[in-house]
Amino acid sequence: MPGRFIVFEGGEGVGKSTQVQLLAQRLQDTGRSVVVTREPGGSPRAELIRELVLGDAFAGVDPRAELLLFAAARADHVAEVIQPALAADAVVVCDRFVESTVAYQGVGRGLRAADIRSLSAWASQDIHPDLTIVLDLPVAEGLARAQEPNRLESEDLAFHESVRESFLSLADRPDVVVLPADQPQSVLADHVWAEVSRVLS
Ligand code: TYD
Repeated sequence: MPGRFIVFEGGEGVGKSTQVQLLAQRLQDTGRSVVVTREPGGSPRAELIRELVLGDAFAGVDPRAELLLFAAARADHVAEVIQPALAADAVVVCDRFVESTVAYQGVGRGLRAADIRSLSAWASQDIHPDLTIVLDLPVAEGLARAQEPNRLESEDLAFHESVRESFLSLADRPDVVVLPADQPQSVLADHVWAEVSRVLS
C-alpha cells in the first residue's frame, strides 16, 4: 500500500491532538506503518524553530519574517521526516500544515494566500496532503479549551474569527473535509475514520 499524507487543521482548542492520536492508533491496528508529527516542528531542527517562532521573543515580528520561519521549519520537516516516511509507504498524520499558514499568516496577518501557497509548495518539495481534515468549533469555545496560550493563541478574537473563516472556506475542495468538533471524541473519531478509509482505499 502506498504512503498517504493526512493533515488535521483547525483553530485553537478544537481537539486536533486527540484526534491525531485516535487515528494513529486505528491505523496501527490495521497493520499500517504510521508516522505522527506536527507543525511547526516535527523534526529536531524544525522544533528549534518552533521554540523561537512561538516564543515571546518574537512578539511583534514582521509578518514576512514570521512566514519565512514557518516555511523554513516546513522545509526541514518535509525533507527529514515526511518525505522519507511517504517513500517508505507509511501513513503520515500531521497536526497542522499549509492551511494553518494560509489561515494564520495569510488571513490573520494579511499576507497574500497565493504567495504563501507557492512558498509552501516550494518549501515542501511539492508534497501535498492527500486529505486535510478541518475540525471546526466556535472561536470562544476553542479558546476556552486551549491551555497555556502561545504567542499566536494570545491574539484577539477578530484574529481567531478570521482564522476560522479561512479554514471554513476550504470546505468545497475535494481533498478537504470539515467536521464539527463539538461532538464526543469517539463519534468524531468515527467520522474521521470514514474519511481516511476513503483515501486509503
Ligand atoms: P500549537 O500549540 O501546536 O497549537 P495547537 O495545539 O492549537 O495546534 O501551536 C501552533 C501555533 O502555531 C498555533 O497557534 C498556530 C500557529 N501556526 C501558524 O501561525 N502558522 C503555521 O504555519 C503553523 C503550522 C502554525
